[in-house]
Amino acid sequence: MQKKGTILSGMRPTGALHLGNYFGALENWVRLQDEYNCFFFVADYHALTTGYDDTEYYKDNITNLLVDWLAAGLDPEKCTFFLQSSIKEHAELHLLFSMNLPLSWLYRCPTYKDQLNQLKEKNITTYGFLGYPCLMATDILMYKADYVPVGEDQLPHIEMTREIARRFNYLYNSEVFPEPQPLLTKAKVLPGLDGRKMSKSYNNTIALSDSPEVVRKKIMSMVTDPERIRKTDPGHPEVCSVFSYHKLFSEGQITEIEQDCRKGEIGCVACKKKLADSVAELMTPLYERRQEWLKHTDDIKDIITEGNKKARVIAEKTMDEVRKVMRIDWI
Ligand code: TRP
Ligand code: SF4
Repeated sequence: MQKKGTILSGMRPTGALHLGNYFGALENWVRLQDEYNCFFFVADYHALTTGYDDTEYYKDNITNLLVDWLAAGLDPEKCTFFLQSSIKEHAELHLLFSMNLPLSWLYRCPTYKDQLNQLKEKNITTYGFLGYPCLMATDILMYKADYVPVGEDQLPHIEMTREIARRFNYLYNSEVFPEPQPLLTKAKVLPGLDGRKMSKSYNNTIALSDSPEVVRKKIMSMVTDPERIRKTDPGHPEVCSVFSYHKLFSEGQITEIEQDCRKGEIGCVACKKKLADSVAELMTPLYERRQEWLKHTDDIKDIITEGNKKARVIAEKTMDEVRKVMRIDWI
């Protein structure tokens, strides 16, 4: 099939993926792999920008991320997986971009200020962290990606990538780098178990690595409409997280659930049991594939080794072009 262009995206290996990540990104990637020439990579250098002092779980996190991808249905026959730190060209291009990247662009990036505020307990007033968007531009431009599927929070980085490409092309009177477009998906937003944003720091997640029993327990302990004491009390699904979950997991039964709740014809326990069944239908096969891949981590290393080879060929070619137009190809 004729592909619609090149896509590149990455995730930082910072721990178990949760259902919010699945609906927010991974499910979409699985769909894109058939239509585009896709590169998906583990952004382990990016993980170091904030986690440079704690690398104890660094390797496990990479393995777990890849297991999540494979279990979710990303197929290394269809797309290229690679590991950022295996392709040394990323370090070189990052260095070259840093020569002409104005500090003001980096300081005014909204994600920079946000993260400094949010991660107060860490010292990330570092050179590496300030350069986060430069490193991200390197990932994207190295493979001359047309589209970058990302969440809305990453848009300033894509915009800076476009500016970095433009500046490079202008300075060296070249057309080495095309300007990538963000690919914003109508991301399905799944709130956390307590109704807040699903996030590890709130301890309200369902991880893809949670066993079916754990998932069921977590669902059964979700808070529902506080005004419902007896089953016959009329409910308000719009304030209930269980109902937000049903919207994603029980599409076919959603009107029925809503009506039964409003009329007080279904109890919250029964409603949660229904949800647990729908969630299990999606997650159990994924969990089983996960367990299988965990027994075959050598195969995962082979997949990355193969992907790295493909990525490296492109990265080497881009760097040849870069050195040539910059005239740093003396020998
Ligand atoms: N910053 C991205 C995130 O946190 C991860 C990332 C690194 C990325 N390099 C990238 C995403 C290049 C897309 C393209 O989600
Ligand atoms: Fe929520 Fe379902 Fe209870 Fe209604 S019946 S309040 S949707 S758990």
